[in-house]
Amino acid sequence: MSQTFHPASSNSSSLFTGGLYVITYGCQMNEYDSDKMASLLEKTHGLKLVTEPEDADVLLMNTCSVREKAQEKVFSELGRWEKWKSLKPNRVIGVGGCVASQEGKVIRKRAPCVDVIFGPQTLHRLPAMIDEALRIRGDDRIKKKKAVIDISFPEIEKFDNLPEPEVNGVSAMVSVMEGCSKYCTFCVVPYTRGEEVSRPYDDVLHEVRVLAQQGVREINLLGQNVNAYRGVMADGEIADLAVLMHGVRAINGIDRIRFTTSHPNEMTQSIINCYAEIPELVSHLHLPIQSGSDRILAMMKRNHMVLEYKSTIRKVRALRPNLCLSGDFIIGFPGESCDDFKETLKLVEELNFDRSFSFIYSERPGTPAAGFPDDTSLDKKKRRLVAMQDLLNAQTEAISNAMLGTVERVLVERLSRHSFTMLAGRTENNRVVNFEGSPDLIGQFVDVEITEALNNSLRGKVVATPEAHTHVAPQFYAL
Ligand code: SAM
Ligand code: F3S
Repeated sequence: MSQTFHPASSNSSSLFTGGLYVITYGCQMNEYDSDKMASLLEKTHGLKLVTEPEDADVLLMNTCSVREKAQEKVFSELGRWEKWKSLKPNRVIGVGGCVASQEGKVIRKRAPCVDVIFGPQTLHRLPAMIDEALRIRGDDRIKKKKAVIDISFPEIEKFDNLPEPEVNGVSAMVSVMEGCSKYCTFCVVPYTRGEEVSRPYDDVLHEVRVLAQQGVREINLLGQNVNAYRGVMADGEIADLAVLMHGVRAINGIDRIRFTTSHPNEMTQSIINCYAEIPELVSHLHLPIQSGSDRILAMMKRNHMVLEYKSTIRKVRALRPNLCLSGDFIIGFPGESCDDFKETLKLVEELNFDRSFSFIYSERPGTPAAGFPDDTSLDKKKRRLVAMQDLLNAQTEAISNAMLGTVERVLVERLSRHSFTMLAGRTENNRVVNFEGSPDLIGQFVDVEITEALNNSLRGKVVATPEAHTHVAPQFYAL
């Protein structure tokens, strides 16, 4: 193992009497990174997470720049933080994530309260960067105080410099690769997070083992294109996601595996075969396609056609007939005609997509699509988005209704928010189910018969509490 984590000097910790406040925008990768930042700063600076900014000495924002709206939120929030800082000038404010990576020192120009600017690959350097910000602030010889900035891409170094994972429940995310080398014409990710880099196979398995020893039962393998995972093994061979999932399933205690998010071109036969070989792999696949029109897919540089996507889904469903499929869709890509959009609706219907993400195309500076002609009005794009979301919502509701009367394997996660006597857990297709049960069941798999389908969750009753590590056959309902 290559854990080379060094706690920062104790001098810095004594400067802080308050806690750490973190806001996270964007994807699960950002949530994972924010958890890591919090556990790192607790170890180095004794900072405990707080829920209110006024209780914090260090305020961090982990940002997303995939769409313009997410980016603008950052600056309006920083406006509010400026106020917190004027009340207590000793506070340290840091901005990380993709906006930091893209904008760098421009952030400080727009928001002078920011002391530290770090990228998705340099968050492990935060303790030293915070110390440096405090040093600059305290040095009277430095008249023009600057922000401490490190938005470089030191490959996978960050994972070697983060503390051991800490468990927060029975389900855990494990980041296995970073970045993206696909360069879709609309997307900033390859520029903000760098090209695809995979963590070594043994490092990932070590992290999963540590989590399993602390009671984790479900692992969600994360990456911008997680199915492009190519991790080096101890013998120098390269493991793909299929090999990795076999490694994860062999770890005692791990009984459910998810992976997000994937690229259609990386759904190799060996990954598809996992749906037959690995019972722990859920019958749920999140596979973004973005558009149902071949013309638009070509303009997006997705490098595949709709037919190929359908063929992949057909192969997976041959192995798992009840597979729930979700995806990402971009509505109103430059040049999208009414017919192109209708093709997307047709595909959504044909493949029966479950709850999915759909957003209006957002022009991102520096990406090729930003230069494409676009004569569709925003009003028309908004109407298309409503039509898309209505269809997706109707299908999601129909799938929930089809689950009525079925018995689902549920991982019990916590007490329900509805009542002290109820528990909450998730089905394989990621629906929250609330049901009566003893808190002893938290962390176990139980069979729950679905009795009610509500808008955002299901209700059910426990029909069996299977022994740990037995795998019930996947449930079938007509999709
Ligand atoms: N692996 C995924 C794939 O194959 O597409 C990529 C995940 S990407 C980080 C997250 C999602 O953000 C994309 O699937 C896309 O729908 C959305 N997205 C990226 N750039 C966008 C843009 N310029 N406008 C709107 N949505 C965008
Ligand atoms: Fe973005 Fe396309 Fe990669 S959507 S994250 S460039 S697969």
